[in-house]
Amino acid sequence: MIKIIGMGKSVPQKCVTNDELAGFLDTDDEWITTRTGIKTRYVCTDESLTSLSVEASNQALQNANLSAENIDMIICSTLCGDYLTPSLACAVAGQIGASCPAFDINAACTGFVYTLDIASAYIKSGKAQTILIICAEMMSTQADWNDRNTAVLFGDGAAACVITAGDALKYLSLSAIPEITILNLPSDTGNSPFIKSKREKSYLYMHGQEVFKFAVNIVGKDISKALEALGISSAQIDYYVLHQANKRIIDSIRVKLQQPEEKFPVNINKYGNISSVSVPLLLCEMLDEGKIKKGDKLFISAFGAGLTAGCCILIWE
Ligand code: UT7
Repeated sequence: MIKIIGMGKSVPQKCVTNDELAGFLDTDDEWITTRTGIKTRYVCTDESLTSLSVEASNQALQNANLSAENIDMIICSTLCGDYLTPSLACAVAGQIGASCPAFDINAACTGFVYTLDIASAYIKSGKAQTILIICAEMMSTQADWNDRNTAVLFGDGAAACVITAGDALKYLSLSAIPEITILNLPSDTGNSPFIKSKREKSYLYMHGQEVFKFAVNIVGKDISKALEALGISSAQIDYYVLHQANKRIIDSIRVKLQQPEEKFPVNINKYGNISSVSVPLLLCEMLDEGKIKKGDKLFISAFGAGLTAGCCILIWE
């Protein structure tokens, strides 16, 4: 079906430490580190989501030895682009010099796995040969910086990858359990004089413990189903590339599977949770560090608002 032939990433310049947050929030480095594993996160100052995405996309194209004219579709995963419309994908297309169909999807933190599935379907149908996937999030503009429960968790960034026909994707599964109360980001209702119940601008809301339980449960189930479908054991997976929402979620899955720590790469310590960007950013870093070799089996998984979840197994080509 598909393979990834080039990746790129970009994060803003401003790095915010836990101590800096403790300067204006009732929190401290010890709580954030022990409860989440996060030490720093990067937040936008004068970068836009488009500029981060363009940088990540150009890197991905360069690593794939392609130029923008070779791309015949751009799919972008984002909670909220620089504009509600046009899409972030169109904004990026304009700046990298692509003139192919381009659109955004929102599957919250699970967006990367959803975009892989869409790309795979288009390539399988023959409607596209080379697709640019971009995941880009500016969580700093969606979090409430007066709320210690959420503000300390998130960061900004973008990651991109180029997808073509190949045989790397061996399994992919998506799910959504409709539950909009424990993790959400309401939109406002504008100034329509007709609207009966007005909603002002509000911020990301999360019932952390409920999402934590959902995550541990769904990732555990997804791993069992995927391994069973391929007839392989947990030991045969070389890397578990999991959504970087909380180091404790990753640790609890690792302990259940009784697999060594090296198989569970993390970057949440540096970047916090960047929603749909977390997994492709981690993959990109692993490639840059030469960690991923041809033939490696990768289990990739993400979960988030919706509640959505998705996982896949790639054998790296
Ligand atoms: O990517 C989307 C998916 N998101 C996730 O997967 C997040 C999943 N959830 C989590 O990662 C964790 O639930 C959190 C990190 C969000 C919270 O950790 P927790 O261990 O579940 O803490 P809690 O919400 O139960 O809060 C425990 C205490 C509370 O104080 P009291 O009521 O016990 O006095 C909180 O007010 O910790 C307090 N607290 C903080 N204290 C210092 C919450 N945030 C902070 C903070 N600094 N930043």
